[in-house]
Amino acid sequence: MQLSERVKWVKPSATLAVTEKAAALRRQGIEVIDLGAGEPDFDTPENIKEAARRALARGETKYTPVGGTDELKSAIVTKLARDNGLQYGKTEVMANCGGKHALFVLFQALFNEGDEVLVPAPYWVSYPDMLALAGARARIVFPQDRENFKLRPEDLEAALTPRTKAVILNSPSNPAGVAYSPQELDALLEVLGKHECWIISDDVYEKMVYGGFVLGQVLKVRPELRPRTVICNSVSKTYAMTGWRIGYTVGPAEVIKAMTTIQGQMTSNPSSVAQAAAAEALAGNQDSVPRMMEEFGKRRDFVVARLRAIPHIRCNEPQGAFYVFPNVSAYLRKSQGPKTGDELAAYLIEKVHVAVVGGTDFGYPDHIRISYANSLENLDEGLRRIASALAELGPVA
Ligand SMILES: Cc1ncc(COP(=O)(O)O)c(C=O)c1O
Repeated sequence: MQLSERVKWVKPSATLAVTEKAAALRRQGIEVIDLGAGEPDFDTPENIKEAARRALARGETKYTPVGGTDELKSAIVTKLARDNGLQYGKTEVMANCGGKHALFVLFQALFNEGDEVLVPAPYWVSYPDMLALAGARARIVFPQDRENFKLRPEDLEAALTPRTKAVILNSPSNPAGVAYSPQELDALLEVLGKHECWIISDDVYEKMVYGGFVLGQVLKVRPELRPRTVICNSVSKTYAMTGWRIGYTVGPAEVIKAMTTIQGQMTSNPSSVAQAAAAEALAGNQDSVPRMMEEFGKRRDFVVARLRAIPHIRCNEPQGAFYVFPNVSAYLRKSQGPKTGDELAAYLIEKVHVAVVGGTDFGYPDHIRISYANSLENLDEGLRRIASALAELGPVA
């Protein structure tokens, strides 16, 4: 029996693989510190859970319209006006089964075989595989200053070709927490303004910026790009709702209509009960958001300081999201020992039972990704273990 060709184009998600490895060790009774997972450790806020209970009590357990209930669409529209100063109508928004699904359906709606899509590195592991499944090709764009991670207009200009159908912007980013200020973003958008292509803004970490950083937003900076900008977002990270699987897309009505047709033959609507919860998350009381973000901010400062205290580790200061992406090349060897960030991650989980993700699938093999979506206590213990494992390994002379 033969499997499809398509399945050969994708690899399992590196981040999910680490979570599974951690779970397997835990089943053996081993206490693992999981700094690999890309999900907030907080519980979903009570007002959101209550909205789901109310939906159940009302019997909202049936199919809904494919692109989401009227209530959720209204909540998305409300959120866009409140948080982003954007006026969108309900024909220009839709709900999806998570931000990942939003991007997946969008790629299916936009791309043809052979289309090129620019993906700034380091990038979220799933973009290249999801693009491949849509027949498109990720063209990875490295910033000239590789270790600064921030794309400059020249980098973008040099990467654009007549085949470039879209550019994916993810600010703040997974895995390096890179966020663009309005000025930095404007410089990139000036380049894109001259090249007819889609701008896909993956905003799932938009609320997670620290130290007073002002985040640039595509349509605030350049409203004239609206006809070719699509925003994908999600309640997963902002509202600690990863398991509920609700994401959403905002864009031209024609794109939303095409995506709704595809989604109608794919998943139909996202879960009815989760939609009711997401509507409360987006349009209800927002008090939980700054509370969680304040905590993430403290953790960021703590983790960066502790990593920088480990000899020979080079660690950027992320402006957002909840990851750090240190360069661990000083501990990588040509033989006898870990050769890549991935092998170092395997060493750390085996040796000291700390889960982190190797950098290869993010485009940077000499790095590891550490998530600080964990308690200060666990971060403290996890970093103590990492420091001791690295000390034992020793830097390359
Ligand atoms: C950059 C980025 N985009 C999108 C997603 C999708 O999240 P979800 O499908 O939970 O909404 C993630 C999740 O890790 C992410 O890191």
